Amino acid sequence: MKAMEIKPGIYWVGAKDSLVRDFHGYKTQRGSTYNAFLIVDEKIALIDTVKAPFSQEMLDRITSIVSLDRIDFIVANHAEMDHSGALPDIMRLAKNAQLITSPNCDANLKKHYNTDGWKVSQVRTGQSISLGKRTLTFVQVPFVHWPDSMVAWCPEDKILFSNDAFGQHLSPNSLFDDETPKDIIFEESAKYYANIVYPFANQTDKALEAVKPLAPSIIAPSHGVVWRTMVPEILAEYGKWVKHQNNGSALIVFDSMWESTTKMAKSVRDFFESKNIPVRFCSLKTDHISDIMTSVLSAKYIAIGTPVLNENMMPTMAGFLTYMRGLKPRGKVGFVFGSYGWNFRLHKEIEESLKALEWQIPVPAQSIKYVPSAIELEALQAALEPLIQ
Ligand SMILES: [Fe+2]
Ligand SMILES: [Fe+2]
Repeated sequence: MKAMEIKPGIYWVGAKDSLVRDFHGYKTQRGSTYNAFLIVDEKIALIDTVKAPFSQEMLDRITSIVSLDRIDFIVANHAEMDHSGALPDIMRLAKNAQLITSPNCDANLKKHYNTDGWKVSQVRTGQSISLGKRTLTFVQVPFVHWPDSMVAWCPEDKILFSNDAFGQHLSPNSLFDDETPKDIIFEESAKYYANIVYPFANQTDKALEAVKPLAPSIIAPSHGVVWRTMVPEILAEYGKWVKHQNNGSALIVFDSMWESTTKMAKSVRDFFESKNIPVRFCSLKTDHISDIMTSVLSAKYIAIGTPVLNENMMPTMAGFLTYMRGLKPRGKVGFVFGSYGWNFRLHKEIEESLKALEWQIPVPAQSIKYVPSAIELEALQAALEPLIQ
């Protein structure tokens, strides 16, 4: 694979990880990319690197354009290893390069690698380096995605090198947003936000406010496609997500032992359908929690169903709720249901954990003993009425 020119003198020199299917628990069904960019001006700058196993690929792409000793600056926007993994190699081989990074990232890189001998220059928000015709200005965007995160802005080309923000876990055949089906890019952008950026909505909102006045013509994130034709659209989507806006739909997430909770889940689905509310029906036996999170992001109503198992919930539900609570979705209307044999305290406990997320709970948890009868299922639907008022 070659380096790809995204604008005259600016090249993609990253790596495609087409086969990765698990990104610490996130199911990456379309693979991923680690995007690194090389700017060849009077001075030469590399922006970010790749995951360690792809270091040689990145080095080969760079050396197809310039020799490593010609690199003046290596910008580390974020210390996480999907972007810094190749730093030890490039810092060893690019003998004349200076590492440009934020104070936080500098400290974090020292906790990841032996940085002895690296020439490091710390930059803060508003500081710039000149490459000749071009400039790179840095903006710290703490917690988008780690405390060390930073973005780099090239005003002459109006390109924002946004690191994790606006990324997608996607390994496209081509580099740009107009070369991959739009529905796939936006689905993967939503999934990426819901599984990675969601807990940092407030910080991302602030970063977004800093980005908008720049009116970038290209956003080059560190994963997935480079945005060149849909910049306003992805900014608009982020604008909705950081404000916790939903599309009014419902999501039912459940697991079952003897299909009693499945019957209840179907009854809950019937209720939403009878109100013409679009509903997504997800069994934890078949749907992956990282895919369910995409629906959590867009849904208004979230119904959680589990039977009681040994005075606790199904392990699949425990895993999902632990994962979801860490991602801190806000502004939802929640509801808990499930079957039980002799102890239904569990459903109330789950309800309390949803209240801790500041969700509204207009309908108390509904528990049905053993197998629900037709009458009990009808009563369940009737009980749901206050949910949508
Ligand atoms: Fe990250
Ligand atoms: Fe990343």
